[in-house]
Order: sequence, then structure tokens, then C-alpha cells
Amino acid sequence: MPRILAAEIMDDPGQSEADFRAALDGLETLNRITFAHAPLRRFLDEVVAESGATSLSLLDVGAGGGDALRAAAAWGRARGVALDLWGLDRSPWAERHAMERGTPARWITSDLFDLPAERRFDVVMCSLFAHHLDDPTLVRFLRWLPAHAARSWLILDLHRHRVPWAAVWAGTRLMRMHPMVSHDGPISVMRGFTRADWRRLLEEASVAAEVRWVLPFRWAVTGRGG
Ligand SMILES: C[S@@+](CC[C@H](N)C(=O)[O-])C[C@H]1O[C@@H](n2cnc3c(N)ncnc32)[C@H](O)[C@@H]1O
Repeated sequence: MPRILAAEIMDDPGQSEADFRAALDGLETLNRITFAHAPLRRFLDEVVAESGATSLSLLDVGAGGGDALRAAAAWGRARGVALDLWGLDRSPWAERHAMERGTPARWITSDLFDLPAERRFDVVMCSLFAHHLDDPTLVRFLRWLPAHAARSWLILDLHRHRVPWAAVWAGTRLMRMHPMVSHDGPISVMRGFTRADWRRLLEEASVAAEVRWVLPFRWAVTGRGG
């Protein structure tokens, strides 16, 4: 299947705050039932095991409702690692939503490419964000990550494959999720990636990274800070 960049409602600036926030709640539910934050915890374990760090700053790009940041905070408490957490999202509604959900993070409401060049974090991550970008912007993002991560960076995103497409199509309808989630979910899978895509994009960006397939039908792409 080719990468099809059909439009997601979530990217439409004309949507309402209520719909956007309902979609963030739907995403949080999907993240919870698919154990989407497990690879983030494993990644943080590896960063700490390798570096011996007892404190880390972490930026979540396209942080949405902040549930990955809340998962990171729980990991930090369990592991005794002090985390300085930051969310970045271009939508002001994301910040409001994340704060109301008690996300223990500071927030930057901005397009990621407007972040000042000197702004760096130990770790930069994103989850279900990369598929929102077209290929040339993704290449730019792959170069942006090591420029803003002092130690390591992580991309978590979808594997473009018939199985997750069918599961998301059926699951979001069976669970009667918000119409934006049942519309955007299967499109997100079609905007997702194969291993060959990652090889091509990383080569084009001249960035070294490890590409791992993780359950359920996702990619964990990790690289070192610049
Ligand atoms: C599908 S949501 C993912 C939210 C969250 N990471 C999750 O896993 O549920 C993608 C988020 O990326 C944000 N976004 C899209 N393009 C962006 C950009 N260029 N800069 C910053 N945020 C962006 C959107 O506002 C949206 O909240």
C-alpha cells in the first residue's frame, strides 16, 4: 500500500474546540487500550541505563492531551528519576486539555519549527505525530530532532498495514468513538510507515537511527542527540 496523505479532520483549523478535545479523549482511550506508552517506558529505561542519569528533561512534540507526558511522569516516579517535562503542540486547545487533565508539564503552544534553535532537551519524543507530516517535512523533522535533543530522541508511530487499518476502522466504530477519531484513525494508518519508508526518509535526512517494530503494529525510531 502506498503512503496516502488523505486529510485528517484533526488538522483542519476550522474544527471546534469541543470536537478537538473529544478527539484527544478518544486518542487517550486508544493509547490506553493499545498499551501505546510501553515503548516510551522502555526507551526511557534504555536512556537511563546507558547514561546513568538521575534527572532528565523531556519534550513531547505534538503532545495533544498530554497522556504520554503523564505516563512519563509515572515512570519517573517509579524509577526515582526526576523529570522536567515539556509538551509542545500548535493547538492552544491541547494545552488547556492537558492542564485540565493534570499533566505535570510545562507547555509550549507553537509550531515545532518555530522553536528557537538553541532550545534543547535531554530527550525529545513524539507519539502519533510523525504521520501528520508529508515526506519533505518529515525529512526536515528528522534533522530537527537531533538538533533539539542532547541525549536521544524517539518517534513512535503507526505501521501502514491492512491489519491495523481494519482493527482501527472496526474498533473505533464498535466503541462508538467520536466521529473525528473514527474518520481520522484509519486515515492515520494509511499515512503511517513501512520499514522501507523509514530507511528512505532517514537516508534522505542523512540521520542515523534504529528502527524497531513494536506491538501493536507501530514503529519506534530512535536516534542520538546532536
Ligand atoms: C494525533 S495528535 C497526537 C497527540 C498525542 N501525541 C497522542 O499520542 O495522542 C497530533 C497532534 O500534533 C499537533 N500538531 C500537528 N502538527 C503540528 C506542528 N507542526 N507543530 C506542533 N504540533 C503539531 C496537533 O495539534 C495534534 O495535537
